[in-house]
Amino acid sequence: MKGVLSERKTLHPQDIERRELPAAAGRAVRELAREISTTLDATLHDATALAATLTDPALITQIDARVGELPAELRHAMRPPATAAGATIVSRLPLTDDEFGPTPPSWREAAEWSGTAARRASSLELDIAMMLLARSAGEPFGWQGQQGGRLVNNILPSPGHEHEQSGASSKTLLSPHSEDAFHPARANLLMLGCLRNPDSVGTTVSSVRRVQLTADQRRLLSTPTLPILPDVSYGTGHERYSAPPLPTLWTAAGPDETTLRYDPAYTPLDDADAAFRTAYATLTAELERVCMTAALTPGEVLLVDNDVAVHGRVPFTARYDGTDRWLKRVNIRLPERPRRAEEADENGYGQRIIAPFRAASTTAFASGGVEPARADGHREQTPVAIERDTAHDRGSVEHS
Ligand SMILES: [Fe+2]
Repeated sequence: MKGVLSERKTLHPQDIERRELPAAAGRAVRELAREISTTLDATLHDATALAATLTDPALITQIDARVGELPAELRHAMRPPATAAGATIVSRLPLTDDEFGPTPPSWREAAEWSGTAARRASSLELDIAMMLLARSAGEPFGWQGQQGGRLVNNILPSPGHEHEQSGASSKTLLSPHSEDAFHPARANLLMLGCLRNPDSVGTTVSSVRRVQLTADQRRLLSTPTLPILPDVSYGTGHERYSAPPLPTLWTAAGPDETTLRYDPAYTPLDDADAAFRTAYATLTAELERVCMTAALTPGEVLLVDNDVAVHGRVPFTARYDGTDRWLKRVNIRLPERPRRAEEADENGYGQRIIAPFRAASTTAFASGGVEPARADGHREQTPVAIERDTAHDRGSVEHS
């Protein structure tokens, strides 16, 4: 798999849907982010706390109150991917390499630095710009146990983790997977905004709507057979939760509407019979066959439909000199696309999301672990987060 994907760094860019932000729309996002940042600077005493999680009610209120001021073309550009590729590159968010400083060595420094006076004018502004883009698409949310519950994650290589099957890695292939496949509150849409990528490191995307499977294979893969377990970054306590068998595919609406939930590294395939394993292996091979690679450039935003496409990352060699690849990631829920009723009773292995944009009356995912807004309408500050083990955190440092 590694060799195949590595060779696809120059795949078929024409296969990924592309949209360009009109220049005025791109400028409007940056200008509104700057205004909101300046407004908050004048009203908040602790910018460091604000930057740590980006969940301060003042920021959430500002974004919700003002995102509607952005041009309609921007919301149109940020709609979900519209083709069978399940992925879209939105380009021309204006930014320059010298405005946000060197690539930090880890997500912790990235969050801390954005709250310092020297960086606030740039890095925090970019985080707010990412939130505005994400809010134009749907409801941004974070994970209580991921990057301190921060709503905008920093994706960058970290020293010492090069060979892990983890987000901090660089030299190893990150295998294709659905984001947070184990959880019923997983994102509908994954947004990856590129600040820098000097070595054109590719993010891989494979759509289930381009694979070829027999009717029998589709039937097998649509039958709840195996659970998907939380990855190791969620710790070891999940054994106390029931692990219900899940379908890998939903095919009831036909091949053109197929969706998937796929993370082979955390699916106990040995527990299935030979016929299922063969069907699953065929799906894996097909996802490789249709794999596309997006080597994002600064100012490009990749939208991945997390119900349609799996994503990964090709290997690369990090330099750790402040110039390495740096992406911003936001998980987005699409309110118009509720999860199936069959997922409502899943426990999510106790993992909870931080959803400050969600209305207090929305409880559909409560059993799946939502950190809800307060009943009085005020939004809670982020609770103390349960940190993941960064060394194994495929999600928190580099999951793309
Ligand atoms: Fe990922």
